[in-house]
Amino acid sequence: MTAITEKVSYEAEGDVGVITVDNPPVNALAAAVRAGIKGGIEAANADDSVSSIVLVCAGRTFIAGADITEFGKPPQEPNLNAVISAIEESSKPVVAAIHGTALGGGLETALGCHYRVCSPAAQVGLPEVKLGILPGAGGTQRLPRVVGVPMALQMITSGAPIKAQKALEVGLVSEIVDGDLKEGAIAFAKSVVAEGRPLVKISEQNDKLQEAKDNPAIFDDFRKSIARRTRGFQAPENCIKAIEGAVKLPFPEGLKRERELFMELMTGEQSISQRYMFFAERQAMKIPDVPRETKTFDINSCGIIGAGTMGGGIAMNFLQAGIPVTIVETSQEGLDKGLEIIRKNYAATVSKGRMSQAAMDQCMGLLTGTTNLEDVADVDIVIEAIFENMEVKKELFEKLDGICKDGAILATNTSTLDIDEIGSVTKRPEFVIGLHFFSPANVMRLLEEVRTKKTSKEVMATCMNLAKRIGKVPAMVGVCEGFVGNRILHRRSEQATALIMEGALPQDVDRVLFDFGLPMGPFAMSDLAGNDVGWRIRQGKGETSPVADKICEMGRFGQKTGSGYYLYEEGSRTPKPDPVVEEIIVNASKEAGIERREISDEEILERCIYPMINEGAKILEEGIAARPSDIDVIWVYGYGWPVYRGGPMRYGDATGLQKVYDKLCEYQKTHGDFFKPAKLLEKLVKEGKGFVDL
Ligand code: 3HC
Repeated sequence: MTAITEKVSYEAEGDVGVITVDNPPVNALAAAVRAGIKGGIEAANADDSVSSIVLVCAGRTFIAGADITEFGKPPQEPNLNAVISAIEESSKPVVAAIHGTALGGGLETALGCHYRVCSPAAQVGLPEVKLGILPGAGGTQRLPRVVGVPMALQMITSGAPIKAQKALEVGLVSEIVDGDLKEGAIAFAKSVVAEGRPLVKISEQNDKLQEAKDNPAIFDDFRKSIARRTRGFQAPENCIKAIEGAVKLPFPEGLKRERELFMELMTGEQSISQRYMFFAERQAMKIPDVPRETKTFDINSCGIIGAGTMGGGIAMNFLQAGIPVTIVETSQEGLDKGLEIIRKNYAATVSKGRMSQAAMDQCMGLLTGTTNLEDVADVDIVIEAIFENMEVKKELFEKLDGICKDGAILATNTSTLDIDEIGSVTKRPEFVIGLHFFSPANVMRLLEEVRTKKTSKEVMATCMNLAKRIGKVPAMVGVCEGFVGNRILHRRSEQATALIMEGALPQDVDRVLFDFGLPMGPFAMSDLAGNDVGWRIRQGKGETSPVADKICEMGRFGQKTGSGYYLYEEGSRTPKPDPVVEEIIVNASKEAGIERREISDEEILERCIYPMINEGAKILEEGIAARPSDIDVIWVYGYGWPVYRGGPMRYGDATGLQKVYDKLCEYQKTHGDFFKPAKLLEKLVKEGKGFVDL
């Protein structure tokens, strides 16, 4: 075996030259990999003993893309297009042997090969759009030449990979190899030579482009179809333009067009934020004081206490990961209702074609309902999802502590209560943790994990792994009121309320935040969640809020009652501004002695968003979150903060902390200490640093 570079080797196996990439963990296309593949192709072409070439990868996957850590740094030769061109121009057939995931630049490299074979579990895709860029090494030009324009548009703008069987059906791979992949690829390469099959250069295949040439409306129709899903994002539009280039321009010109569109995105703020989030999400998995090698416990069964909306949603995550769930309710009626909702949710997914009936049956088969708490005696983890009441929860945890086997983790889904206090009633406080799911719990990706002062490292490590297993993005935080997500949300809500008292209307505040990229503004969100929830909490604490209370007193609980801050027509979820609400607000201002004034969109945005950044800084000061990027993960995955703006902390950096600080000081003068900048923010500004420097 000859080492071409430290990451790529070459060896002749009989008359087949095998180029092996070995760059763990995901064989990303670092400079040494690019140079190695190009060198390997040259070596094989110069090697008279071989008549065909196989490109294969060591480790867990084929090439998973360009090396994202190289982005934004000075480019190193050879560039990926040159490598792919060398593969395509090889005078000996090149076969890509794909296992794991061939993604981004990895699939683009494979598309430069004359043939592709893969293992049964392989997946292929172009996920660049998720990083705010587009496939920049010929992917937008070659993929439509293989799968046709409609499918290429779908794959490239969604970034979603396809499985081996589908790849075979659409001609992206020629064969699925059941046994040893390398041996299968070698046999395939030999057959290409033996049968005198052509060296297929995708760049020269134009047949599949004809459909779009004949019907250019395909592009605008497609634009319309994804408009809602891609609102605010720049990359999908550039992806479409690049594919249009593939149809309208000869291949070399199309490649140039792709590069221009790629560079436009690469240098933009959106892609910088999306790439930042890629690493933030992975970073959040690592807890600074919990070493990687920390022992974890096996979790093979789960008990959920409470079969309400939250409990049911949480259960679905476990069932889909193949983990049996015992769900406990106090009454048979409540239990039946809860189980029926889970069944209906799955049935709806099946009817939309997003799940097979067999998969649904399997999930339901793993679910046991009971009204007997003792039935969770043997589970590995219990998650409590009952209503928010400290005394009731403490009583429950005391019981669970007595019932559950030694070593079982006792978790609470509380979003507000002190988990140290809950854990204190058990004899195993080190096994108590917060697992805060977000509603709808089977859909929202975030899992805010809350460590108490006593939670053990093993329990934290176990719950981080568990989150990944059930398809969640976790972030570990400490105990404080509202933890990280809701504590920051409250700052925004307080300003939203103040703004309507001073002169804005709910629709003004909501529009500004919607245009910023959030899924909805605070008033539409409150109508969706139910205005009565906050009302009850305020009543419990003896607090008042003139507009919100009045709205609730009128029975306007939100969407579920057909009116709240907005009106909802029968069967519609579209909020309509309501003059009645305007009158309530104007009266409330009058009663509070506030003279209403015109409030600019800029002020609305600054007053809603900058206090969130400031609160994030306080959270960091207090050590409640370990890193700014963990806060960003929470806001992007739990609250729909637009990923193309990073989270609030990244947005603060992008805006410039000096500006955020100055504005907070200005508002502090006019509106009081709510806006007082956090010490950490002040320190960073003085030092000319950003959150990114922490
Ligand atoms: N570049 C650099 N590092 C990468 C990487 C990449 N393309 N892909 C993954 N990594 C790193 C991760 O940061 C992580 O590092 P860490 O252990 O230090 O945190 C490590 O590899 C393992 O990654 P995951 O934890 O994500 O591992 P999984 O097994 O869960 O997932 C994967 C593997 C599906 C390959 C996933 O990592 C992934 O989706 N990677 C990104 C794929 C991608 O976006 N490719 C396109 C890149 S852009 C491109 O190719 C441009 C081209 O068109 C020119």
